[in-house]
Amino acid sequence: MLNIGIVGAGNRGIRCYGIHIMKEKRDVARIVAISDPDKKRLAVAKQVLCLNDDDIYTDTEKMLDKKGLDAVIITSPDYTHRDIAIAAFERGLDVLCEKPLALTVDDCDEILKAQEKSGKILCVGFVLRYNNFYRKMYEIVNVEKKIGRLIMAGGFDSVSTGSQYFFHGWWRLRRNSGGLLVQKATHSIDILNWIIGSRASRVYGEGGLAVFGGNEPDDKVCSSCSKRFDCPEALLDKNISWDYGEASITMEVEDKCVFAKEIDVYDHEILTINYENHVKAFFVESQFTPDYKREFWFIGDRAKIYGIDPYIVSAADNRKPYIEIVYRHTREKEIVPVTLAPGGHGGGDPGLVDDFLRCCLTRDKVLADGIAGRESIAICAGGEKSIETGKIVYLR
Ligand SMILES: NC(=O)c1ccc[n+]([C@@H]2O[C@H](COP(=O)([O-])OP(=O)(O)OC[C@H]3O[C@@H](n4cnc5c(N)ncnc54)[C@H](O)[C@@H]3O)[C@@H](O)[C@H]2O)c1
Repeated sequence: MLNIGIVGAGNRGIRCYGIHIMKEKRDVARIVAISDPDKKRLAVAKQVLCLNDDDIYTDTEKMLDKKGLDAVIITSPDYTHRDIAIAAFERGLDVLCEKPLALTVDDCDEILKAQEKSGKILCVGFVLRYNNFYRKMYEIVNVEKKIGRLIMAGGFDSVSTGSQYFFHGWWRLRRNSGGLLVQKATHSIDILNWIIGSRASRVYGEGGLAVFGGNEPDDKVCSSCSKRFDCPEALLDKNISWDYGEASITMEVEDKCVFAKEIDVYDHEILTINYENHVKAFFVESQFTPDYKREFWFIGDRAKIYGIDPYIVSAADNRKPYIEIVYRHTREKEIVPVTLAPGGHGGGDPGLVDDFLRCCLTRDKVLADGIAGRESIAICAGGEKSIETGKIVYLR
């Protein structure tokens, strides 16, 4: 039986991982501690996860010292990941750290150093690797080798949630999130890295802030704004719905004005990435599309794949991922069926936790490891820097 501590009593900590472990993994793991500086959140955690008073901590360091702890799941905001992951390894704990692993490559390397020294497991929250849509694309390219020699690739993240939460909350400041390539695109960049099967050697980016940001006061909030019923970006209900986790548990998000002066992350980015195995890739992210979906292209010398994972287009839409392969010499089109497993992120959320818990028990290697976390941040943070400086960023 693994004794698990959760860092962060928020959406991921309680609604996603906490509930899953409590309900579905009770034969192998139990939650014995949770930390959060926010006492209101801790009260929810205590009730939902059936914890005692001495299982809840406002001080994460103290929680990490709890006797008998085997592993921690870090779901606190991005800027806290580095210090907490290192502190956990120093105490000999296995770690599942939410994405992004850290805000910079140097910080990722510090975490990896601490992990190596401890000999413990590091799993990163790349839930998409555990979703059948992405697994199938990986298999087509790397196992079935249907497209021949991979030469080009691309990814496009349409993110409709810019005005739903990213620009209303802590994510909107680079010092908190590292920018939205680091915070959000790290998932899709990891999928490119995984399927391409190589490290990136350089990245070049273009981007900017075109829809969000502005001159409004930093402390202005929608709930007390006189324009809230006319502003299309206003957050009228702070209890937004999420595409993962236990729907009956509501959690408030911040409702700061999306036109505030302090906003310093980009809302659209385009990257070109060159890999050590000579594959060339593009990546596009927009925070102001009407739809929410991820699209990928992989082009080899025999065939081309297009795949789309449209998980929130409108509430009425069913989530139906689609993969097609078109063969160059015959022009034949093959549509590849994909069935998603239950659970958030198309089964990726439970898949990730299950792999982590299994590896904690067997000492096997996790699929979404720390190196993957680091290599994705190399491209994302490099992309942010390239947009800022207008220069190519060399990663090796
Ligand atoms: N893998 C995914 O698909 C996915 C999806 C969403 C979010 N995330 C990541 O999960 C993490 C949490 O996101 P969320 O949506 O649950 O955010 P959230 O704001 O709902 O929860 C974060 C919680 O951490 C608490 N916290 C802040 N500092 C802390 C500290 N030092 N120690 C302990 N707790 C602390 C906050 O009070 C808050 O309750 C972020 O890193 C985010 O990038 C991953």
